[in-house]
Amino acid sequence: MGERLQVTSWTGSHMRTQVAIVGGGPAGSLLSLLLRAAGIDSVVLERRSQAYVLSRIRAGVLEHGTCETLRSIGVGARMDDQGFGHDGVNLAFGGRTVRIDFADLVGRQVMIYGQTEVQHDLYDAMDDRGVTVVDEAEAIALDGLRGDTPTVTFTTGGTTETLECDWIAGCDGYHGVTRQAVPDGVLSTFERVYPFGWLGILSETPPINDELIYAHHPRGFALCSMRHEMLSRYYVQCPADDEPDAWSDDRFWDELRTRLPDTAVANLKTGPSIEKSVTPLRSFVAEPMRHGRLLLAGDAAHIVPPTGAKGLNLAVSDVVYLADALRNWYHDGSTDGVDAYSDTALLRVWKAVRFSWWMTTMMHTFPDADDAFDERIAETELAYLEGSRAAQTAFAENYTGLPYRLPRDAG
Ligand code: FAD
Ligand code: PHB
Repeated sequence: MGERLQVTSWTGSHMRTQVAIVGGGPAGSLLSLLLRAAGIDSVVLERRSQAYVLSRIRAGVLEHGTCETLRSIGVGARMDDQGFGHDGVNLAFGGRTVRIDFADLVGRQVMIYGQTEVQHDLYDAMDDRGVTVVDEAEAIALDGLRGDTPTVTFTTGGTTETLECDWIAGCDGYHGVTRQAVPDGVLSTFERVYPFGWLGILSETPPINDELIYAHHPRGFALCSMRHEMLSRYYVQCPADDEPDAWSDDRFWDELRTRLPDTAVANLKTGPSIEKSVTPLRSFVAEPMRHGRLLLAGDAAHIVPPTGAKGLNLAVSDVVYLADALRNWYHDGSTDGVDAYSDTALLRVWKAVRFSWWMTTMMHTFPDADDAFDERIAETELAYLEGSRAAQTAFAENYTGLPYRLPRDAG
């Protein structure tokens, strides 16, 4: 098979490209840039406005491999300048705090740099590099997935248009349409819904500590994170159906204080919240991540509870695998990459699902009174981590991010 590169063309309401990317969140945006670097043409369809996508407050911790990926395509400069490299995290429980020293244990760091900033850098690079993005374009139907020229039908500005392509990348998040376009019976799904959510607030106050604190407490989990010197992000475990309005700022700060160790509370600076939201916690995986010419990536294929800070990082590793598979198809004329994509990506996805589930069960309080046994196990997991360098190393290896294994590296 020869080169298949061609430029995007528009004729009336009919467009053609090589890869139609549905969703302009982190997965879709990064994929468009990785493809551009490989000389592969794409069009990104994003349901929301750019301003809306940029205003969503979500993840804050970037794995080592995510940082390397962003640098590799020239999108890491602002992150390296304004992000904060962290050498460890703290796990507080029963009045004690265990520090997991990533630098010492695995020679790695994580980067504190908000998803909004990552998205900003990706959009800037897409603009600079001439990636075609159709904002406020909602994909409504996918057709021809089993043939050679699949299409995406989308609405924009009150009109309905069709985008024809070689491949569709489903990067449209958990509630998107691409996974739903797979015929019934093809996908297997695996799910765990947790009986709690996280109430998160953002406040323009200095962070409580120079590293993150994850706290296990009889009243529930708490997390102290940050964005920069004057912007803190805090979370407390709450009922999954709680309304943010039920939580006044005072109630939030009181609850946070109760759940943190006294030594940390002494440094807590409170202030008005500038954002407050509740996120339900869920683990979900749909397999396989490919159906014919549709390739799923990021939250469209899987969700993890945020406890391990893995959601955004998994979206990044998925699209690294996906871009490599498409490069292999377009440039080497081989189907090996696309054929291996789902298995390769899922191997890493399931390890992050496992780590996020484990950390969630260890750090949270389960509301059901019958879970006294589970509570003892959670405390014992933490006590084991406290006393075992081997357990800390496993934690550090997972938290900073497992390596990506591209099929060609495995050979
Ligand atoms: P998304 O970011 O969901 O992007 C999908 C995009 O597709 C969206 O822009 C959407 O508008 C667009 N779209 C949807 N449907 C269509 C359609 N029909 N047509 C066109 N476009 C469409 N992860 C962490 O690691 N740490 C955290 O603290 C954390 N907090 C989170 C809080 C919340 C409230 C949520 C929802 C997620 C959080 N995550 C967190 C997870 C992390 O943000 C996601 O894993 C990450 O955003 C996944 O990126 P994505 O591009 O796959 O999906
Ligand atoms: C965040 O800063 O928003 C954050 C940090 C760590 C997590 C989850 C969220 O595990």
